[in-house]
Amino acid sequence: MVVITACAFLSLFPTIALCKGLIVGPSVVEITQGYNNVFPYENFNRNVTVPTWDTSLLNGGDKSVIQEDLDAIANATFIVYDSEFYKVRIHRLIAFVWEFLLTSLHQLLGISGPFEEKQVEEVFTFPDPPAYAQRQIHDGSVYVPEENALFVAELFSPKEGYSMQAIPYVWKVDITDRASPNTSKVYPNPPLTIANGAYRFNGSIYWAQEGNTTTPSSIVRMNPKTLETEVVKNNFYGHRFNSMNDIVISNDGVAFFTDGYYGWDNFNDTLFPELANGIWRWDMRTGNIKMVAGAAEGAFFNPNGLAFNHDQSKLFITNRGNSSSDADGARTIYINDVTASGLSNRNVFSYSDAGFPDGIKTDQDNRVYGAVVGSVDVYNSDGTLLGRIKVADGDVAVNMAWADNWLYIFGRSKIYRVELTTTGR
Ligand SMILES: *[C@@H]1O[C@H](CO)[C@@H](O)[C@H](O)[C@H]1NC(C)=O
Ligand SMILES: *[C@@H]1O[C@H](CO)[C@@H](O)[C@H](O)[C@H]1NC(C)=O
Ligand SMILES: *[C@@H]1O[C@H](CO)[C@@H](O)[C@H](O)[C@H]1NC(C)=O
Ligand SMILES: *[C@@H]1O[C@H](CO)[C@@H](O)[C@H](O)[C@H]1NC(C)=O
Ligand SMILES: *[C@@H]1O[C@H](CO)[C@@H](O)[C@H](O)[C@H]1NC(C)=O
Ligand SMILES: *[C@@H]1O[C@H](CO)[C@@H](O)[C@H](O)[C@H]1NC(C)=O
Ligand SMILES: *[C@@H]1O[C@H](CO)[C@@H](O)[C@H](O)[C@H]1NC(C)=O
Repeated sequence: MVVITACAFLSLFPTIALCKGLIVGPSVVEITQGYNNVFPYENFNRNVTVPTWDTSLLNGGDKSVIQEDLDAIANATFIVYDSEFYKVRIHRLIAFVWEFLLTSLHQLLGISGPFEEKQVEEVFTFPDPPAYAQRQIHDGSVYVPEENALFVAELFSPKEGYSMQAIPYVWKVDITDRASPNTSKVYPNPPLTIANGAYRFNGSIYWAQEGNTTTPSSIVRMNPKTLETEVVKNNFYGHRFNSMNDIVISNDGVAFFTDGYYGWDNFNDTLFPELANGIWRWDMRTGNIKMVAGAAEGAFFNPNGLAFNHDQSKLFITNRGNSSSDADGARTIYINDVTASGLSNRNVFSYSDAGFPDGIKTDQDNRVYGAVVGSVDVYNSDGTLLGRIKVADGDVAVNMAWADNWLYIFGRSKIYRVELTTTGR
């Protein structure tokens, strides 16, 4: 074990925790500022497709000590970069005085420190994809409280020479019995055509589906009880969308959705794109449709996940770029102000160090959660990475959904959940 007791002691006083090293508990590894500033090895690098604990040690001396550190990080369930991940900072105590009187001091993870054990639960393991598929993806996760259930789409990304098959089912995770969720396939009718993102609005699920060569990309409304579906938006004045990826809808009935080249470039299942990549605003009250970001102006290439902050005044948008394996790829979460007619004030909120944030979600306290290779990364409202919630070794987190104070995480191969001290937006 790599417990550095001096650091553990200093971590009680976050403002002076400058020592080097890891603080290793039974399920938490806290990475100190010194360790984060200077990687304690002579030479190293890392492919953007792998997580931080798979950093390569290049030329240099004895690798065993640092390798043990990397193994400790790989073995952890939570990686902490800022103690705000699990506890209130001393200097914030004043602001928290009222809550301090009412509730406990414990922050997001609800543990008192890195030496307290906490686990992420594995809820379900998906069956393997068909032999033709390169990988499976589980996106569009959405919670429907009226049904006590979460829904998630399945996609099989094909190999060269194949097109994606439209999959007739989505997965339903029934959490009526919270202690033992029941995951099964359900069949939307008519079927979805390569469903991706999803959002619950006014009692319905709205899916953003990529479409295929014979069915245009569209927004589809699904009744979560009867599973009946209806296409509600599928064109821009006669143009097919390229392949819609995710959707959010404001309380006022204004939808924003992302549209990219995924269907054409990755899945080989749509017609050649006719429009620029972008973020679209569809006013469901009036039917007005307009592009509000993208439009070939540079920032967006394959925009993907969307999430509002808790009062819907900000919209977070992820951008992938052509490939998440590209070293110079996008991997960015942008933050935008939501205006009466569109978006303004776009800024980089965060840039991921592994893969790209596919699904994003927010919580009541304006934290932002990005699903990436190996973990869900948790940022505070100013874009500071607080920590990571790990998924199983080798799995990729794709999206999440809140059910009360439980964050359900949908990986490529498994469903997980973790109990936190906050709730969804
Ligand atoms: C990173 O790994 C990916 C997947 O194995 C590979 O395609 C890519 O070429 C690698 N990038 C570099 C810069 O080595
Ligand atoms: C990591 O976990 C493996 C398997 O449980 C164990 O053998 C190894 O000692 C652990 N390493 C560290 C540094 O915790
Ligand atoms: C794309 O799919 C078509 C069949 O729809 C197939 O003929 C073609 O080889 C595929 N292309 C690639 C690059 O996989
Ligand atoms: C799980 O759901 C399936 C499909 O709805 C149902 O047939 C089965 O009885 C359920 N199992 C349990 C233990 O509730
Ligand atoms: C497109 O998807 C629909 C399901 O909505 C399916 O019936 C149809 O066969 C698919 N077309 C192709 C070319 O795969
Ligand atoms: C909400 O759903 C009801 C019927 O379930 C419908 O009458 C109403 O128009 C919907 N509202 C919006 C804003 O879509
Ligand atoms: C994305 O990258 C692939 C592989 O390098 C390339 O074939 C394709 O043309 C690129 N797509 C666009 C729209 O630039």
